Amino acid sequence: MTYQNIKGTFDVLPDAARDHSSPVPSSDEWIAAEAKIRAVMTAYRFGEIRTPIIEPTELIARGVGELTDIVSKEMFAFTRGDTNYVMRPEVTAPVVRAYLQHNLGQGGPQKLYYIGPCFRAERPQKGRYRQFHQFGAEVLGAVSPSADVEIISLMISVYSAMGLSDFRLRINSLGDESSRPAYKAALQDYLRPHYEKLSETSRSRLEANPLRILDTKDPGEKALLENAPRISEFLGDESKRHFDDVRQMLDDLGIAFVEDPFLVRGLDYYTRTAFELESDKVGAQSALAGGGRYDLLATELGAKDSVPAVGFAAGFERLFLALAEEQISLSVRKLPDLFFVARGERAHNWVVAHARQLRDRGVAVDLDLLERSVKAQMREANRQAARFVAVVGEDELLSGELVFRNMSTGEELQLSTDHVVEEFCSMAL
Ligand code: HAM
Repeated sequence: MTYQNIKGTFDVLPDAARDHSSPVPSSDEWIAAEAKIRAVMTAYRFGEIRTPIIEPTELIARGVGELTDIVSKEMFAFTRGDTNYVMRPEVTAPVVRAYLQHNLGQGGPQKLYYIGPCFRAERPQKGRYRQFHQFGAEVLGAVSPSADVEIISLMISVYSAMGLSDFRLRINSLGDESSRPAYKAALQDYLRPHYEKLSETSRSRLEANPLRILDTKDPGEKALLENAPRISEFLGDESKRHFDDVRQMLDDLGIAFVEDPFLVRGLDYYTRTAFELESDKVGAQSALAGGGRYDLLATELGAKDSVPAVGFAAGFERLFLALAEEQISLSVRKLPDLFFVARGERAHNWVVAHARQLRDRGVAVDLDLLERSVKAQMREANRQAARFVAVVGEDELLSGELVFRNMSTGEELQLSTDHVVEEFCSMAL
């Protein structure tokens, strides 16, 4: 019996090795997507932060919230000695930890981005994995609505840079500590008389976390919520002004959005702005990305002073689903510049030495590793769609002349064995 990867995880293989019926993209596509993301992040002047995969369990429990599904049901957590570890289910709380730990607030606002795996023990399905991969960005130390818009604009720019257009931005304001308790109470007052009609999950949320009922998928509950009090009616002056400014600036930038009073996020740290980027095309897991403002997270994690902050995170797996739906392929197929076909042992040794010199100059060279016949090596060169093929044998080494055949035009060039590296480099690159 050989081993298999764990359900809800997957291997990422190079394009050449990959089974093309697999929904998982190749590492070539993955690399291309990361390059585009890094280019956009850099243009917006965000710097990369890399935090550990394992964090103290308490950081996530307090940061994301004990009552959330992520913390109460989905953590990969374990204990060694007297330390409790969690495989990070998200990166915002770790980024805030690092920000506080390294005193990053001293030099003004910090703009940080990240790329890496996260872990949630959810039921695997299309677009939902147990090890998935996020990219995201956070602005820490900025209270202004401009920071919210900077994040939303950055997020949209990433998807546009991929060539995607089929997505919808939904936004809401979740208020803050001055408005949320009153709204919670009003929502509870509205829902309590309908207790019998609520699902078991919603019943369990009614007392402790009633806002989460707002994002129910149950049609009966949705209908019931149509007449429920709206958080917009409870926003304090500052939250209201903040939300007005965010919407105005999005309008000014021409970023389309829909306001969704039922948008609440699955993490407890949000205040004021919350948003999601959604696609209709990627199946039930329609959220491509999500985020919002989290001005109270730092103090929740023990900081003396609050750190106003806003960010987003997005899933690579859903990005790739959206790309597949819009029939966009990111990877440029990487072909060898040159395939050396060797006839005989002396020629093979010559090929190995010269391939090395060319590779050290950045030329992508392939050669035979199986002592195959010349015919079989030619077949391999064709299979790999090499740009040039050169056959090297005793005769060529004796004459000091090698023929390089351009496989797309059929044109042939003679290069001398003594200067082959310089001549090939100047010709082909
Ligand atoms: P989140 O909505 O939990 O937010 O996750 C962000 C994105 O990660 C989702 O929109 C989705 O694309 C992807 N994702 C989440 N869970 C899975 C899964 N099991 N399988 C595949 N993809 C998944 C956060 O994580 C917040 N930290 C976002 C944030 C940043 N808020 C402020 N700053």
